[in-house]
Amino acid sequence: MSHATGSLFPRIDHPLPDEPNWLATLRRREETLWLSIRNLGTQPRCHLSDHATYVQSDALQWLSALPANSIHAVVTDPPYGMVEYDEKNHAKLRKGRGGVWRIPPSFDGATRKPVPRFTVLSKEEILNLRGFFSALAYGLLKALVPGGHVFVASNPLLSTTTFHAFIESGFEKRGEVIRLVQTLRGGDRPKGAEDEFSGVTAMPRSCWEPWGVFRKPIEGTLAENLRVWGTGGLRRISDDEPFKDVIHCSPTRGVEKEIAPHPSLKPQRFLRKLVRASLPLGVGIIYDPFAGSGSTLAAADALEYRAVGTDSDRQYFAMARQAFQPLSDLDINHK
Ligand SMILES: C[S@@+](CC[C@H](N)C(=O)[O-])C[C@H]1O[C@@H](n2cnc3c(N)ncnc32)[C@H](O)[C@@H]1O
Repeated sequence: MSHATGSLFPRIDHPLPDEPNWLATLRRREETLWLSIRNLGTQPRCHLSDHATYVQSDALQWLSALPANSIHAVVTDPPYGMVEYDEKNHAKLRKGRGGVWRIPPSFDGATRKPVPRFTVLSKEEILNLRGFFSALAYGLLKALVPGGHVFVASNPLLSTTTFHAFIESGFEKRGEVIRLVQTLRGGDRPKGAEDEFSGVTAMPRSCWEPWGVFRKPIEGTLAENLRVWGTGGLRRISDDEPFKDVIHCSPTRGVEKEIAPHPSLKPQRFLRKLVRASLPLGVGIIYDPFAGSGSTLAAADALEYRAVGTDSDRQYFAMARQAFQPLSDLDINHK
């Protein structure tokens, strides 16, 4: 398998010469856990590589069977509002009309892809959203080892609800990563009265995407937690550069969308940065509950990290089988 991750992401050498006993113990534990986790449950699955397994399952269902303290990080891009991936709206997206998915207005003649409109969520839908993310957060809190990090994507309209659920369940909020990206949300003049109110915008044009960063509380000091569980901190970019919370990243490139035509595909260039940071010592197993096209699993594979993903949708499960290797092999430094 060829890997083209560029010099930003140096590989972990296996085995490390003269590694301390605690590190060797962590690696052995990872091997044992990996065998049991990738074969957990009876749902359909595909071992995409030695490092990646995709299970076609509802996330909460698979998570409920996951033993306590068995995963080391979560990097995930969930349905921000839940409704956009429910059966009704998902079917409308696939038919190309209606529901919560709308084509953004075009000012330059370019064809736009539908994006979900979250301003239309009802009070009941917001309550359901809160309930779902609470259940997810409680499940992840149990399954993660102490010090395990969660990176969870959201949207400026809904992140307060989503992130609050994580804090309430017992996670520590450790910050937010801001992905600077020009989306086509917001920024429009009042509908039907664009000329009359040409100097007015209904809401801000969104230029960023928030990713909540949460941590399961550590045991003892950070150094103690790192030795026992391999977690608690974030992997530095280099000796001179810590991991930072603002990442410039343009929208997903055409070549990636051709490989994986998922309506919410995240770019490898961005995902690899989060995935790499999520395991401070490069040891452990990552879980993506909403794996979609398998893009997080591919990012982990490119870094030689182990990762397991779930997604309830059969078509995305099939898409990931095709898309995984080309996404993993993608040279992210290529323009
Ligand atoms: C925002 S998309 C993730 C896309 C992914 N980041 C990518 O780059 O391909 C969310 C995914 O969650 C899946 N999904 C929705 N509800 C789910 C549930 N309860 N359990 C598992 N997957 C679910 C959808 O099928 C969809 O693929």
